[in-house]
Amino acid sequence: MLGASVPFRADVLYHRRARHFSSFAQVSGVPCEQTGGMQANDDVMRSATAPMIPPTPRGPASAALLDVLLEAAADPSRLVESVRAAMAATPDLLRDDDLQLTLFALYELQYGGIEGVDDRWEWDPTLLTARALIEERFEAELHAAIPTPALPEASAEAVAQALFDLTSADGGPSLSRFVAKKATDEQLHEFLMQRSIYTLKEADPHSWAIPRLRGRAKAALVEIQSDEYGGGRPGRVHSAIFARTMRGLGLDDRYGTYVDSVSALTLASLNMMSMFGLHRRLRGCIVGHLAAFEMTSSIPSRFYGNGFRRLGYGEDVTWYFDEHVEADAVHEQIAGRDLAGGLVESDPGLLADVMFGAAACLAVDGWAAGEVLDAWTAGRSSLRTPAQEQGQGQAREQEQARASVASLSQEPLPQAPLSQPLPA
Ligand SMILES: [Fe+2]
Ligand SMILES: [Fe+2]
Repeated sequence: MLGASVPFRADVLYHRRARHFSSFAQVSGVPCEQTGGMQANDDVMRSATAPMIPPTPRGPASAALLDVLLEAAADPSRLVESVRAAMAATPDLLRDDDLQLTLFALYELQYGGIEGVDDRWEWDPTLLTARALIEERFEAELHAAIPTPALPEASAEAVAQALFDLTSADGGPSLSRFVAKKATDEQLHEFLMQRSIYTLKEADPHSWAIPRLRGRAKAALVEIQSDEYGGGRPGRVHSAIFARTMRGLGLDDRYGTYVDSVSALTLASLNMMSMFGLHRRLRGCIVGHLAAFEMTSSIPSRFYGNGFRRLGYGEDVTWYFDEHVEADAVHEQIAGRDLAGGLVESDPGLLADVMFGAAACLAVDGWAAGEVLDAWTAGRSSLRTPAQEQGQGQAREQEQARASVASLSQEPLPQAPLSQPLPA
């Protein structure tokens, strides 16, 4: 991950804002017909509205949850029992496949939902109890693993500068440089599958913060999110542009297709955003997270785009990355000074949370990127279950998870499949 090296410059910000919003097609080089109008095409609407494909359980807790969600006869109280047992057994919740998948699926009920699952589960008290148990430990482990950076004075300028300094100094692994210079075509496919977990719902976790903010910070967040959501043009919603990139490489852009392939840490990265966004008391953390995210996006996006161009992919594939070179050079300025700085000026008590949220973004995303790089440099696939083996792996894990839950509950489990097999 690369940090931004650009301090706050009001003249640059306002110049770039004007350029970006008035002449996207000229800046990006993408033909106007690709930028989308008010007329949404079928692909965009399908990506935007389809519920997630059910994931495969990774252990007793996630198996118990999927039983509750997908099997009408399942007893929800078994879920809390399974979560407690899994929490007692794991030494590291951040890297625990079963619990991170459980939390991920519980959060998905708050987003687009899961195929075949009744929407009323979203506010079920038993499921929320299970979620709260995992969240409490997750938050504690994040704080234990990630120190809160030194606090600047509680002014917008000082907060913005501290965030730029923090992200510039980040020495995390540079996945973007590897993609630019060395990644194979197979690794580019893996990269998009890894990224699909967050990017097919890009900006959504941060949007939870909008009704929790006021004044300058709210206006800044809405300005950023408006851009993320296409400024009124469905074809320019960033998640839809990313879906187009996936289709350009022959990948399936339905949400959840590749969830079974990614690690616990990749799920933890999104779970952390969801937790920060869904708790009003953590609004400082989600603001700091977004600031760090934007500040470490523009330059890496250029490298990512170059990697795809190096292997011969065209503008329809690189558009997503090219868009972020320009957009996030604007967003990082708004996020640093107006969003994070504005929030701290109005509520100085949130300063430590803002700085922690930024540090947590750098740390968790750095660990997840490190996993991918380690696998690639060792000549291995970065996927938890390589694409060609997904069907077999799912069947095996599903059987193991069923056995675990059955032994925990001493009750027979239904034999119907918990989820649909993924395409090879
Ligand atoms: Fe974006
Ligand atoms: Fe952005």
